[in-house]
Amino acid sequence: MTRTAFVIGHPIAHSRSPLIHGYWLKRYGIDGAYKSIDVAPEALAAFSADLRAGAYVGGNVTVPLKRDVLSLCDEVDDAARAIGAVNTLVMKDNRLFGSNTDWSGFLANLDGKAPGWDGAPGPVMVLGAGGAARAVITGLARRSFSPIRILNRTPKRAEALADELGADLTAKIEGHAIENFERFAPETGLVVNTSTIGMHGTRFDNLALALLPDTALVTDIVYVPLMTPLLADAAARGLKIVDGLGMLLHQAVPGFAAWFGIRPEVTEELRALVERDMGLLPP
Ligand SMILES: NC(=O)c1ccc[n+]([C@@H]2O[C@H](COP(=O)([O-])OP(=O)(O)OC[C@H]3O[C@@H](n4cnc5c(N)ncnc54)[C@H](OP(=O)(O)O)[C@@H]3O)[C@@H](O)[C@H]2O)c1
Repeated sequence: MTRTAFVIGHPIAHSRSPLIHGYWLKRYGIDGAYKSIDVAPEALAAFSADLRAGAYVGGNVTVPLKRDVLSLCDEVDDAARAIGAVNTLVMKDNRLFGSNTDWSGFLANLDGKAPGWDGAPGPVMVLGAGGAARAVITGLARRSFSPIRILNRTPKRAEALADELGADLTAKIEGHAIENFERFAPETGLVVNTSTIGMHGTRFDNLALALLPDTALVTDIVYVPLMTPLLADAAARGLKIVDGLGMLLHQAVPGFAAWFGIRPEVTEELRALVERDMGLLPP
């Protein structure tokens, strides 16, 4: 029987997951399918019944369902529990397993594009305190970065997130207002933007990139546009940069492996396919 996986969310039309998994299914010659399904929060229980009835081997979960599916799972891995969100579901032996692969996708992107980036894990600044920050901080803590400083427009949100994640993770986690960038910059080797700033070409006001060490790495998980103003400014300052598209590609790997039995490769060909879909390369 053809194994079928899915991505659910609401709306779902913009998801690039079908493109990524479709590429791998073809590349590895697998008799499988990957479907995009619009599921509104109120329809999640009915969808879960289909899933348990054996219609799918599992799938991805995106906005706004990542938190809601937690309570539907029979088992949830440690990272998903810490992050408070599930983005990958696997049906096995009539049980539903939930995991979160955003944190490992974030790490794998840097491993691929900036080998050795975690060689001397020291102070790091994470800009933003939303859902994506939770995954990034979980990844950074697993690679022993400390202190992890969350800088946010709303400092109370950064402080609350630092308290919450700090209770579980071994890293020292602090929450601050974004205005503290200047204060911490000289001792920071890594800056990660997890806020929505950068989308639609928006930029941070007066971020003192000049004060970062010359060896600092700046990465942005916003990938539309690929070259965010933050990355462009960091590159102009002579710093190493890594864009966020690889995180999207790498977070898809564990799910595909669990559903279809082959651990797929993130290739330049796949990246080009997605860039072409984003209109960044000629058709
Ligand atoms: N590359 C990938 O695979 C990947 C994966 C996940 C997410 N992402 C991207 O990550 C970004 C964040 O997603 P999310 O789910 O974490 O969003 P979210 O939960 O809505 O959090 C948004 C964050 O951005 C900040 N922010 C929003 N508008 C701002 C402004 N005008 N000035 C300063 N800060 C502002 C918010 O600050 P306040 O707390 O002050 O409101 C908050 O910290 C999105 O662009 C998403 O596409 C990429």
